[in-house]
Amino acid sequence: KRSYSITLLPGDGIGPEVTTVAKNVLDFTGSLEGIKFNFREMLLGGAALDETGVPLPDETLSVAKQSDAILLGAIGGYKWDKNEKRLKPETGLLQLREGLKVYANLRPAIVFPQLMDASTLKREIVDGVDLVVVRELTGGIYFGKPRGFSTDENGEESGFNTEIYTTHQIDCITRFAFEIAQKRRGKLCSVDKANVLEASMLWRRRVLAIAEEYPDVELSHMYVDNASMQLVRYPKQFDTIVTNNIFGDILSDEAAMITGSIGMLPSASLADLGPGIFEPIHGSAPDIAGQDKANPFATVLSAAMLLKYGLGEEKAAERIDYAVLDTLNRGFRTADIYSAGTKLVGCKQIGEEIMGLFGSAVGAV
Ligand code: NAD
Ligand code: IPM
Ligand code: MN
Repeated sequence: KRSYSITLLPGDGIGPEVTTVAKNVLDFTGSLEGIKFNFREMLLGGAALDETGVPLPDETLSVAKQSDAILLGAIGGYKWDKNEKRLKPETGLLQLREGLKVYANLRPAIVFPQLMDASTLKREIVDGVDLVVVRELTGGIYFGKPRGFSTDENGEESGFNTEIYTTHQIDCITRFAFEIAQKRRGKLCSVDKANVLEASMLWRRRVLAIAEEYPDVELSHMYVDNASMQLVRYPKQFDTIVTNNIFGDILSDEAAMITGSIGMLPSASLADLGPGIFEPIHGSAPDIAGQDKANPFATVLSAAMLLKYGLGEEKAAERIDYAVLDTLNRGFRTADIYSAGTKLVGCKQIGEEIMGLFGSAVGAV
């Protein structure tokens, strides 16, 4: 029997609700596929701050490093919003990404035919959308120095950050994205702001240089303002998008809405070596936390990405993808993707429906 160690980081808000569902789905899939998962739950974010005083305890990072993959919920919440930078839940997440060197963040946005009417866009615009945002995750303005606050002689305060990329960082994420595009429909769109920002000028130059290694991929460039417009104008023009850390953060939330809800988008954050982090792209949704309203599909689909990209267990991953489709086919919806004629249920029941156990004796476990 194959066995894997998985670090479970539920985090805050709806994080524990959606990771519980995904963990159960993993266990259930494992039992069907002869795979044993050894979960170790650790603290991250606000939960870690309350318990240990820091958002990423050393123990969490070392356990995560030694595991085969990390399944993460979400972090953050009102309670910690005014904390200084060092003591924010978000800082813990960024330290985790940096600590694991997961520079490549895959955020696929696929429109399920069953959810076409859940999108705020017209059916003919979203029908058939299948794109992936490849977001650089451990560089750019999120990590650039100098950063901080300063006060001038008149007492005027400034807050400042630095958008910075090295050729090495750009080359790595660009190659990663070309490889992805090659396995998809062979189209790569690099999104930047090279008309204004030096970091983007270098980005575009390096993307053009690396492109010579991939003559079979059709490369295009777009400024980020245009890209955000094109995403809602005609999303089907996109196959693979590669972009920097902050543009990728924003564009992937926008892409999520094409699919119907931010509660549908999974992600995989990968390093060249060592375990990946698998998490939904959404946050801790404090407005609906603790009410069994959260959509767990994004986290369940992240668990499928964990199996595929993290462990190479493609068959088990397909089983989860299939079970998600089946659950949607049978009409089960959380509030964020509800439309007339479907069945409105909570987070827990979606989990039970995915495992096909709802209502049976085993389902009570
Ligand atoms: P959010 O993604 O948490 O929520 C935005 C909106 O989408 C809310 O109305 C929320 O209810 C809804 N939503 C999100 N996920 C949902 C789901 N699975 N099912 C149904 N509805 C869902 O973004 P926000 O409100 O800007 O941020 C809230 C907190 O989450 C902040 O502290 C932020 O820093 C943090 N955050 C964390 C992550 C992460 O852990 N990776 C990502 C984004 C935001
Ligand atoms: C995400 C989140 C994070 C980010 C925050 C919480 C640090 O928005 O995972 O998309 O900006 O990367
Ligand atoms: Mn985000």
